[in-house]
Amino acid sequence: MKIERRETLRVLSLSGAAALLGLRASESKAQCLTTDDILGPFYIPGAPETPQLAPAGAPGTPLFITGTVYARDCETPVRNAKVDVWHANDGGGYEDGHYRGVVFAGDNGQYSFQTILPGKYLNGAQFRPRHFHYKVSAMDTELTTQVYFEGDTSIPADPWASSPAAAGRIIPLSEDQSGNLHGVADIYLDVEPLTNSQEGQGFSPAQPALRHIMPNPMSAEGRVQAFLPAAASVGLLLFNLNGKLAREIIRNQKLPAGMHQWEFRAETRHGLRLQPGVYILQLQADGRPADSKRFIVV
Ligand SMILES: [Fe+2]
Repeated sequence: MKIERRETLRVLSLSGAAALLGLRASESKAQCLTTDDILGPFYIPGAPETPQLAPAGAPGTPLFITGTVYARDCETPVRNAKVDVWHANDGGGYEDGHYRGVVFAGDNGQYSFQTILPGKYLNGAQFRPRHFHYKVSAMDTELTTQVYFEGDTSIPADPWASSPAAAGRIIPLSEDQSGNLHGVADIYLDVEPLTNSQEGQGFSPAQPALRHIMPNPMSAEGRVQAFLPAAASVGLLLFNLNGKLAREIIRNQKLPAGMHQWEFRAETRHGLRLQPGVYILQLQADGRPADSKRFIVV
């Protein structure tokens, strides 16, 4: 048992290391801020507003990305942030009319889109690693960056992806039983957090809302925050992608209005550990689903 525990801790510290490298690159700014990356030559303004970037029937491996846009305090969601994404097709080519889309973050800062795994293309003599280009904007601030994927063998030779500043933007992908890939790409934008006291501008949900799952992906333990606009009996349920209940984190907990936080461990006190994969965390209020977020256990 003790050996297993040590291994769990070691996994935690390894996966945390990538995030830390990214954080230290920008010490003068908030530690969590997402670093920028080059725009590249293939950006086209005015992409369609759609969460479906690849055309129907496009060749390639289906890929589902979700994430939350946070403000510079590293925890307040940025409602209605604009997320503009473009990427290469399966063969590594950019197309003017496809593989581009704009999505907007919801009240809880969450955005999502689906597409196919971007292909690699030659940049000089080297292949660029698979990547998404992002432009994320809110409140007159715009971040241009790129997101890469853990384990990509083209990362070490790529000057942008191998930069220490990119470490926090290399995300793991996990595969479901149907062969689809899933990833979480949270974005930390250098904007002022707008709290609930600034009604109508920032995070002021009228409904109970999941606020923060940290870290995401999670290896061994983390925390979950939720906001309740009014007192409620709260449940937190974890489902796998097939809709099967994997864990009941809390059940019918009577709580007052305000922000609440729970510790979460991938391993229960009985020594049962969640399988690595993609999960959907559902917040229930008074017995009804109120909000949900995806997160990944690695
Ligand atoms: Fe590119």
